[in-house]
Amino acid sequence: MRSETAEARQLLTTNSPTLTVESLEAYQSLMIYYQSAIDEVETKLKIIDRELNNNEIIGRTNTIHNIQCRVKSFKSLITKLEKRDVAFTAENASKELTDIAGIRVICAYVDDIYMVLKSLSQQADVAIIEVKDYIKEPKPSGYRSVHVILEVPVFFLKETKYIKVEVQFRTIAMDYWASLEHGLRYKHDVPDTTLTKRLEATATLISELEEEMLSIRKGIEGE
Ligand code: GTP
Ligand code: MG
Repeated sequence: MRSETAEARQLLTTNSPTLTVESLEAYQSLMIYYQSAIDEVETKLKIIDRELNNNEIIGRTNTIHNIQCRVKSFKSLITKLEKRDVAFTAENASKELTDIAGIRVICAYVDDIYMVLKSLSQQADVAIIEVKDYIKEPKPSGYRSVHVILEVPVFFLKETKYIKVEVQFRTIAMDYWASLEHGLRYKHDVPDTTLTKRLEATATLISELEEEMLSIRKGIEGE
């Protein structure tokens, strides 16, 4: 949180004439709201994981492999709003963007993703706003994940705020692919369609590998 603020301050002093000290204050108050929403959802996920790990029917301890959280940086917020021709204010950011609070849940197997998502969506204070299932329909790049936008109430001193959080569910294998692919695209355009196709083909290979691992797991479990 501290480094984000330092980055924001630097951006403010070096860059845009439209950004003011008020912008930084607005970002800081947004961070409090969105970090709190992240904490709420992360706790819910940890509780689900704890229960699943203790479940004799599941009988595994790695349903959720890892949870990563981040509040969108000041720079990314501004860049995304600029692309949409919207000035940076706390209100505009909350209205326009659904991924200010982001959580990535990395599960072991594909069926774990749907089990955790179902459990989360059954909770009375979780409203599911949108589900984009890029496992059922991968992106043209080959990208697979389930993206969920949900809303949770967060109780502050004087008010209850309903805050959106974007949760990306992936398996370990999907995360391996997405991290490497992102790394490759981040530094270089991939103009060569043969290379793009080969990248996409690796996603298909990974998906087949995952199916085989799942099938082996089910065999071992005697299903
Ligand atoms: P954003 O403006 O980025 O939110 O675009 P969007 O809302 O149209 O896309 P979506 O919500 O489907 O996906 C956004 C996020 O998913 C990105 O920030 C990445 O984390 C991830 N993502 C989507 N497509 C790809 C892809 O092809 N490769 C990788 N590595 N990640 C992707
Ligand atoms: Mg998005």
